[in-house]
This record gives sequence, C-alpha cells and structure tokens, in this order.
Amino acid sequence: MAGLSLRGVAKRFGAVEVIRDVDLHVADGEFVAFVGPSGCGKSTLLRMICGLEPVSAGDVVIGGRRVNDLPAARRGLALVFQSYALYPHMTVRQNMAFGLENLSTPKAEIEARIAEAARMLRLEPFLARRPGALSGGQRQRVAIGRAIVREPEIFLFDEPLSNLDAELRVEMRAELASLHRRLGTTMIYVTHDQVEAMTMADKIVVLRAGQVEQAGPPLALYNEPANQFVAGFIGSPRMNFLPGVVQAEGYGVDGLGTVAVPPRPGLRPGDGVTLGIRPEHLQAASDGAPATVTAVEQLGGLSFVRLAQHDAVLQVAGQTRLRPGDTVGLRLPPEHLHVFGADGAALAR
Ligand SMILES: Nc1ncnc2c1ncn2[C@@H]1O[C@H](COP(=O)(O)OP(=O)(O)OP(=O)(O)O)[C@@H](O)[C@H]1O
Ligand SMILES: [Mg+2]
Repeated sequence: MAGLSLRGVAKRFGAVEVIRDVDLHVADGEFVAFVGPSGCGKSTLLRMICGLEPVSAGDVVIGGRRVNDLPAARRGLALVFQSYALYPHMTVRQNMAFGLENLSTPKAEIEARIAEAARMLRLEPFLARRPGALSGGQRQRVAIGRAIVREPEIFLFDEPLSNLDAELRVEMRAELASLHRRLGTTMIYVTHDQVEAMTMADKIVVLRAGQVEQAGPPLALYNEPANQFVAGFIGSPRMNFLPGVVQAEGYGVDGLGTVAVPPRPGLRPGDGVTLGIRPEHLQAASDGAPATVTAVEQLGGLSFVRLAQHDAVLQVAGQTRLRPGDTVGLRLPPEHLHVFGADGAALAR
C-alpha cells in the first residue's frame, strides 16, 4: 500500500494547458474522490498518476518515490474504467488471470488470487462465462476483480459506475466502499456523481479548469466551501445565490429585505456581495419577506419550492400545501449565511 503526492503537476496538449500546478497529497489507505465539471481534467490527472500520460511539469510521487519516468506497468497501480474493457472471447476467469500471466505469476498463486477476488465480489458462479453473458453490474465486478488480483498499491477508478442503472449503482457503491474497508488500499475515484463522492470518500478534491478549487472531507466542503464554485458544485439542489449589498448592520437582499447580522470583517456599507444559503436552511415564516412560488416538486418525504425571487429554492420537510402563485414568507437565518466577495472567495466570519 502507498500514499501519493502530486507536486506542481501540469499538463499541456500542444499549447493548451489542461492541468495547472496541481499540488495534492493522498494519504496511504485514503479514499479520495475527484469531482468537477466535464472537461476539467479529472481523467487526465488519473492518467498521469498511472503513467498512461506523461506530465508536462511537476512530480508524481508514489510511496515516497518519484515515478515520473516509471512506465505504467511498473507503478503498481490498477485502473478501472467506465467501459469495462474486458476481452469478449475470454471467460471471466481468463479475463482476471490475463494480466498476471503476463507478469509470469505462478499458476497456483493466480488461482488463489482469483478465488479470493471472486469470493469478495460474488463472482464465483460466473467464472466460466464470457462477458457477453453477464449483466452490466457483473461485468463491472469482473473489471474490478481484474484490478484486485493484481494487488495494486493504489486503485484508480474513472467513473466506474456511470454505465449502470440507478439501483445497481447504489449496490456497487456499497460494494466498493466495503471493498475499501476490507482491503484498506488507497483509492482514487473519479465521478460526476456527487452522492457517490459524498458517501464514499474520505476526501473530495474539487477540480475546475485543471486546478484544485478545494480539497477536504465531504462535510467540510459542504459546510465551509472556500468559494462560490465549490459552494455551488457540492450539494443538490444547489446552494441559492442571492445578490446582496452590505449595510451598516447586515446585508440587503434585493426583493427579500435585510438579513441582520454583523457584516464580515473588511466589508463596507455599499459593497456588493453574493449571499449563499442552502435550500434546507431557507425558512418559511409568516413574518418573513414575501416571496412568490413558481413551482413545487413533491418528493414525498420532502418538497422543493421554487421561488420567483432570484430563482431560489426552499426545501420543506415532508409534503407541502404550497402551489404555484402562492406567497410564502421567507426568512434567511443569519447563522447559515455564506458570504462571497467579488472574486467568489468565501469571506470568513
Ligand atoms: N489527447 C488530448 N489532446 C488534446 N486535448 C486533450 C486530450 N485529452 C484530453 N484533452 C483535453 O483536456 C481537457 C481535460 O480532459 P479530461 O478528459 O481530463 O476531462 P474530464 O474532467 O475527465 O472530463 P469528463 O468528466 O467529461 O470525463 C479537456 O478539455 C480535453 O478536451
Ligand atoms: Mg473523464
């Protein structure tokens, strides 16, 4: 097992810099999720870690050793993709054995590792089948099994569950989390799905345009986003952003009155800020500022009420009687307010 460090890592394709000056440490045994919009560089970063793509600048350090010049096969990593990349003409057993035979691992050892991986992933009944005769979830388990038998120092996953339907994803998510608990191996996991990131990862790395916006435990990012981008990216429905103006004893919000709370240090009356508040923190209150309901989504256990004012969303526990066209009193609890400056950085209390 091993930890991983990226030090000033950059990647250029021709003149285009797609990864810029990334510094990151992944501790031994940690489960880290990379998230960020499409094209932000998640896969490129993973491919540089595993050696499929050379870095343009900086160092990749695995287990304390600089591996920039080490070919992929000798880095001790295993990469699992979204497209399982199984060999269609081989059985499940042969697919799992293939990489090991190439490394001239003794036959008995190969058999033992396959048996163990098949047990862990509940693949025993399928060992003699070909991938074409398996479901999507079973194929993905074979792809993971093929990675496990190599006993890598670090597992790298690039959106491994995105081809699966919702139910299977939930099931595989739980299996991967339990696999991580049992093996204790460092895992780096790229995903579009923030529920996956929130529930599986010890640490989430939010990327944007090739740079790290923030890295930290899931709830730290949720509760204290460093900037408006992270605030808007983590959490669903997304945090509400309202234009605000600093007043002597609070913030004025266009159309929604005033939030009485000492302005963040350094702000002066008249300064423009963006106020952030999550849907579950907005409150319906009879003495609140009147807001107009434009749409209602009832999910049964909770409801989302969309408002005309700044397209804000109010989350209500349980079911709501509110209907489009209704007026609801809205309160912004000051203790849950996030304040972002003109450059998008969160302003500390
Ligand atoms: N071989 C290449 N040549 C030129 N540009 C590339 C190459 N590979 C990737 N890119 C560019 O690098 C950027 C990052 O791509 P990457 O695949 O890492 O994004 P991603 O975050 O994984 O996106 P997605 O979520 O869509 O998978 C993109 O703008 C992409 O077009
Ligand atoms: Mg990708």
